Amino acid sequence: MRTDGPRGAAAREARERGTAARLELARPGRYFGTAVAAGHLGEADYAATLDREFNSATPENEMKWDATEPSRGTFTFSAADRVVDHARAQGMDVRGHTLVWHSQLPSWVGALGAADLRAAMNDHIDQVMGRYKGQIHSWDVVNEAFQDGGSGARRSSPFQDKLGDGYIEEAFRTARAADPAAKLCYNDYNTDGVNAKSTAVYAMVKDFKARGVPIDCVGFQGHFNSNSPVPADLRANLQRFADLGVDVQITELDIEGSGTAQADAYARVVDACLAVDRCTGITVWGVTDKYSWRSGGTPLLFDGNYDAKPAYDAVLAALGGDGGGGEPGEGTATCTATYTRTADWNSGYNGQITVTAGSEPISSWAATVTFAAPQQVQATWNATPSWSGNVMTARPSWNGTLAAGASTGFGFTVSKNGSDAAPVVGGCTAS
Ligand code: G3I
Repeated sequence: MRTDGPRGAAAREARERGTAARLELARPGRYFGTAVAAGHLGEADYAATLDREFNSATPENEMKWDATEPSRGTFTFSAADRVVDHARAQGMDVRGHTLVWHSQLPSWVGALGAADLRAAMNDHIDQVMGRYKGQIHSWDVVNEAFQDGGSGARRSSPFQDKLGDGYIEEAFRTARAADPAAKLCYNDYNTDGVNAKSTAVYAMVKDFKARGVPIDCVGFQGHFNSNSPVPADLRANLQRFADLGVDVQITELDIEGSGTAQADAYARVVDACLAVDRCTGITVWGVTDKYSWRSGGTPLLFDGNYDAKPAYDAVLAALGGDGGGGEPGEGTATCTATYTRTADWNSGYNGQITVTAGSEPISSWAATVTFAAPQQVQATWNATPSWSGNVMTARPSWNGTLAAGASTGFGFTVSKNGSDAAPVVGGCTAS
């Protein structure tokens, strides 16, 4: 995500090593992420596409109030943990979504009186942010607090109706204390262009910055279709928020349609973000059309077979990349390595590492994989391992030569010995 500083350097390094995600490769320093549903991570093509293409993950539903605190004071994090663990094992950033929202809110929250509701809101923020403290890049602290249309008014919700306008800043103050390292975002839809709703959000952010209320970023969801096309003033709108001193992010991008029209619309969004220095990343709202919340509109970059659509090519071109690793024509041998769990049982699992050559052919590769103690690797195939503690360096058995963009794989069987943690791919080097 960040446009400068450590992540920029890390991304450049990853790019040189060939371990950055494909959509990130084109533009190190800005993340390109997707919404992730825990329930699909076991599908090999889903996980492979996620791991290969994206460097940021937003749990699509797993961190929402109904998922994390279905009854007061009882917190359940198993589904959210699955997304966070998977993402972090792949070196991805994680966006937190979302803490205070009128939707997917269990009915017990709406039944509370004002004092109890305030306590419950702050406790919810404390507990959920506390669980993932230090692991979340940006949090959508408050989501969709404004009404649609021209009124510029706040949306009716238990929080708004019982606590008044002040609940939003209270939520941000609580969030800052709960995880001081996380960027705190306000997130909304139909705020992508300059309009009455976005102007009401703008006034709130301006007021927060003037009064020192902790806010670091504004999320623009970016749900587009023929009734709500990509606005011509998207860039100008992002820029006016950035000029207030906050980062801006496209947080839930999907664009209904197909073919060239859809591809052009995606490119316009990417161009708008790239034109704004403080636009630090883009998240698309799902990996594949088939699992989109509006799958009938085929709004994403990969179709139901995980084939890249023209929209994907347009995004990659707009980002300025070739999609294969390394700069085009650079003459540098690079590779990427991505991990997938291919089988799982009580005491063990099988893993597969896919090694893909970058934009140049390669004649050999080496991939490092770190296993969590006390796991033990029982067998490997299609690679020759060497060991340093729990770090395996795998080199080709017979499969070192790859054409540009071509892939090979190797596998292993691991005894869990009580630890279900995913191995971490450290890097891939090629010659
Ligand atoms: O998991 C259950 C399943 O067990 C059950 O059989 C099925 C029956 O309806 O429901 C499944 O849960 C659904 C869940 O998605 C997982 O697929 C919920 O009904 C459904 O309401 C929920 O929809 C989510 C929606 O938020 C709810 O508001 C979408 O996945 C999610 O993409 C969408 O995301 C929102 C953002 O959080 C905020 N901005 C708008 C965006 C799009 O609506």
